Amino acid sequence: MSQDPSQLHPDTVAAQALGWVDERTRAVTPPLHVSTTYLRDPDNQYRSGRVYARADNPAFDQAEAVLAALEAGEQALLFASGMAAATAVFQALKPGDHVLAPKVMYWSLRNWLMNFATEWGLQVELIDMTSPAAVQAALRPGRTKLVWVETPANPLWSVTDIAATAQAAHAAGALLAVDSTVATPLITQPLLLGADVVMHAATKYLNGHSDVIAGALVVRQGFAASDYWQRVRKVRAQLGGTLGSFEAWLLTRGLRTLHLRVRAASASAQRIAEHFNGHPRVAEVLYPGLPGFAGHAVARAQMRGGFGGMLSIRVKPGPNAGPQGGEAAAIAVAAHTQIWKRATSLGGTESLIEHRASVEGAGTPAPPDLLRLSTGIEHVDDLIADLEQALQAAHRSPGA
Ligand SMILES: Cc1ncc(COP(=O)(O)O)c(C=O)c1O
Repeated sequence: MSQDPSQLHPDTVAAQALGWVDERTRAVTPPLHVSTTYLRDPDNQYRSGRVYARADNPAFDQAEAVLAALEAGEQALLFASGMAAATAVFQALKPGDHVLAPKVMYWSLRNWLMNFATEWGLQVELIDMTSPAAVQAALRPGRTKLVWVETPANPLWSVTDIAATAQAAHAAGALLAVDSTVATPLITQPLLLGADVVMHAATKYLNGHSDVIAGALVVRQGFAASDYWQRVRKVRAQLGGTLGSFEAWLLTRGLRTLHLRVRAASASAQRIAEHFNGHPRVAEVLYPGLPGFAGHAVARAQMRGGFGGMLSIRVKPGPNAGPQGGEAAAIAVAAHTQIWKRATSLGGTESLIEHRASVEGAGTPAPPDLLRLSTGIEHVDDLIADLEQALQAAHRSPGA
């Protein structure tokens, strides 16, 4: 693309994957590079900059460039999964470093932080990241090296003010990293709000078709040469959480429709949230796009063009309910949906429904009556009708 991507709409950047053309063949979609190794020059140098594909691979170039452009960052790195990307952020720190992370966050990363990372010497403190006072009180100037934010955060969709948290973290000498998987760069650009690193489970909206596990980090302008980011690069190259070539190629293809998918999912999620808010069989709808939601004001300030495709509903117990009525009712609703697929994950074209406490187990912040909904790009009327019939059917189930 001859134009500066920062002057273009994200739709144009995504749809053309930055407009790259293969110079040798004039192909408008990228070739698939599968080589694991690269030739040395006759004088024993490696001027191509590539040696071995564990560290880097031309198959990554296009997806990384598109992601860096969409996030207005300096450089992006693809990883073998969202977890590989997220853990690289922490593995680049040193034993004894203090980090802050939210109590409400993607459960598998919270689990890794509290067990593995802690055993390796990181001092991890979980706090209420939505409260600026709690962040301020927990920061230890000079000792806190990183603050991790997820916004909106699984599975309650709690919203954290990125700009305010960046300011507080930086004042204490800490970096700010944001898991922006749910918002996507179409809705929020954390680096422009002051974050140093943004992370994506590219498995979700970025790829968007539930057929690739991938992760990505993007670093802010002026920070790619930092010691910290060089350590992140080494974590990928040396620990080997490197994405496969075919997955990188599929990810580039998925990114071309990111803007259409995210807008469709967000618009439908807003309609679904409004429809079930106050519904007689629903105790609560959790969605940043609802004016009554706790984080709505912050969400309005830092999210644009919608509030994302993720929401949760809490199901009321039915007339035949036992002591675990809400939980049984929620599980029965998930069992009765036909269009909403009963599976974990999010951000694909198909809508998914999940009883979150069953996945997260002990210590989950998810109430037992909570269903997590990943809105896909089907017709919203079909999605609402399917949930309606499932709520009615669950209502008649014994114990629910
Ligand atoms: C918000 C968030 N972050 C990180 C991850 C981890 O990504 P992956 O499953 O690709 O490792 C997930 C996965 O569900 C997620 O939802």
